[in-house]
Amino acid sequence: MTGSIFNATFCKTHLCHSFEEDTLTTDNQLIKRYERIQRQLEDLLTKTDNITARMSTTAALLHHKMAYFFWTGFYLLDKGELIVGPYQGPLACQTLEKDKGVCWAGIREKKTIIVPDIHKFPGHIPCDSRSNSEIVVPLLDENNEPLGVLDVDSQTLNSFSGIDKEWLEKIVLLI
Ligand code: SME
Repeated sequence: MTGSIFNATFCKTHLCHSFEEDTLTTDNQLIKRYERIQRQLEDLLTKTDNITARMSTTAALLHHKMAYFFWTGFYLLDKGELIVGPYQGPLACQTLEKDKGVCWAGIREKKTIIVPDIHKFPGHIPCDSRSNSEIVVPLLDENNEPLGVLDVDSQTLNSFSGIDKEWLEKIVLLI
């Protein structure tokens, strides 16, 4: 955004999570935004048990409410492969090479992975060269076995914090 004070340098020293044309500039505003998304999803996800509908609704809501979410979607385990599921954003890889990259790390470790700079993550799979940071949140079944991941990419370095981790972990439980 030319001419704006909300550029990468400003955001390194101030607590802003996005420098889009958006007022999400403090932790408190981010938390309030997540609270509203959570409430809205709780209502939206009463309509059907269909998993595709639930994931599509979740991806669309998150993507359009969070200006710094450049790619927002799911990768799901299918016969030992990670295959793309419902998503919003630019065209993504349909399958992810086994045991490589951030999504597979989320599956293996069964925990959320925040990558402040994807260029420094060994084996990172670049589906779109405009992505610079990423968060991956595993979806676990009732036996704590992974079903897939929620993956969000940002064009800005260091976009995701413990706040994103906390709220996205709550949000995947709704699905
Ligand atoms: N970067 C991911 C691949 C998925 S895209 O970000 C949409 C990875 O390394 O697993």
